[in-house]
Amino acid sequence: MSRPVFAARVSRFGTTVFSEFSALAAKHGAVNLGQGFPDFDGPEAVKEAAARAIRDGVNQYAITSGARELRVAIAEHSARFHGQPVDPDTMVTVTSGATEAILDVLLALVDPGDEVVAFEPFYDSYDANITFVGATARWVPLRPPDATHAQWWFDWDELRAAFGHRTRVLILNTPHNPTGKVFTREELERIGALCAEFDVKVLSDEVYEHITFAPARHVRPASLPALADRTVTVSSGGKTFSLTGWKVGWVIAPPPLRDVIQRAHQFVTFATASPLQAAMAAALRLPDAYFDELAATYRAKRERLLGGLREAGLTVYVPEGSYFILADIRGFGFPDDMAFCRHLVSEVGVAAIPPSVFYGPEHRHLGQGMARFAFCKTEAVLDEAVRRLLSRLTPRG
Ligand SMILES: Cc1ncc(COP(=O)(O)O)c(C=O)c1O
Repeated sequence: MSRPVFAARVSRFGTTVFSEFSALAAKHGAVNLGQGFPDFDGPEAVKEAAARAIRDGVNQYAITSGARELRVAIAEHSARFHGQPVDPDTMVTVTSGATEAILDVLLALVDPGDEVVAFEPFYDSYDANITFVGATARWVPLRPPDATHAQWWFDWDELRAAFGHRTRVLILNTPHNPTGKVFTREELERIGALCAEFDVKVLSDEVYEHITFAPARHVRPASLPALADRTVTVSSGGKTFSLTGWKVGWVIAPPPLRDVIQRAHQFVTFATASPLQAAMAAALRLPDAYFDELAATYRAKRERLLGGLREAGLTVYVPEGSYFILADIRGFGFPDDMAFCRHLVSEVGVAAIPPSVFYGPEHRHLGQGMARFAFCKTEAVLDEAVRRLLSRLTPRG
């Protein structure tokens, strides 16, 4: 009998849509609004702090929980921006990006056969990591704004129906990629009550915590009394400091949860790049003006791309946070988002991501009428994308 050459847990995961569309973008010389990383660099002072740390000999393994200086900076930052008191010695673990943190949390809290509830469209590593730990995903779709909802919303009955006696974790992502939804305090409090009823822990992915657009305000779930004891906060410096290649992330959790998460982390990566930890501590201590300017800069980019997409005839959902715009493509006569995005990259010269890949099989059709555009790009790049959309995008048929 022949045996498959690879394990079942990876059999579902081929080349990601990001690799496919980046390759297509390169082939067609397209402006790449697909991948969600900035095409500009992080603050000079932070880059200099990393170079200094390397020169000063901060080059051996960090301790597994993370350099104390960085854990203290994470705690100070949490108190400064989110009103969450954090003990750097018992509540923080530094990880290699939020990506590792998410896997560590699921490894620590979820057994094979358990269930994890999360919203669609989802960040793709949630789906893979739920599979890796042998659990089953229960997806709950976010619905687009409509006549009765000013923002993306979900059906409370649908959310409750996803919970059961096997549910261990609810994954929340606020601000949300790719809808830009920022969960409100009221929503979070009600979610907290539901999680208490089913004794479920919350994994709150907040990597876009500083990219929100007033009047929307990021509320850290763990700062709410109803959620404080059961919430594990995951974030990283990638988006906040435009340093996605550094992969410095962290988990903040109540001490008993932090202890078990650290048991997973110590055997996943053990520790994260030491000199970058030193520099990330400096980044988190930047003055308020840095964080205000980041949000203001992204607001201007959002307006620029929203305006261009509207002018090109797309219906846009205005994001309250993150650096993505979902646009309704149904008026253009393509069978689905994949066909639209392939046409866009090869004929129009603009790469976007087909969001149906961020849904499970049951709700995939909900993503097929949209395309995701990233606006974490310089003005010249956004303007060139808009110029191409205006001159080359026309409805089919
Ligand atoms: C929602 C979400 N979570 C996590 C990550 C990964 O973060 P990191 O680069 O810190 O691993 C991303 C990156 O795009 C993201 O969009």
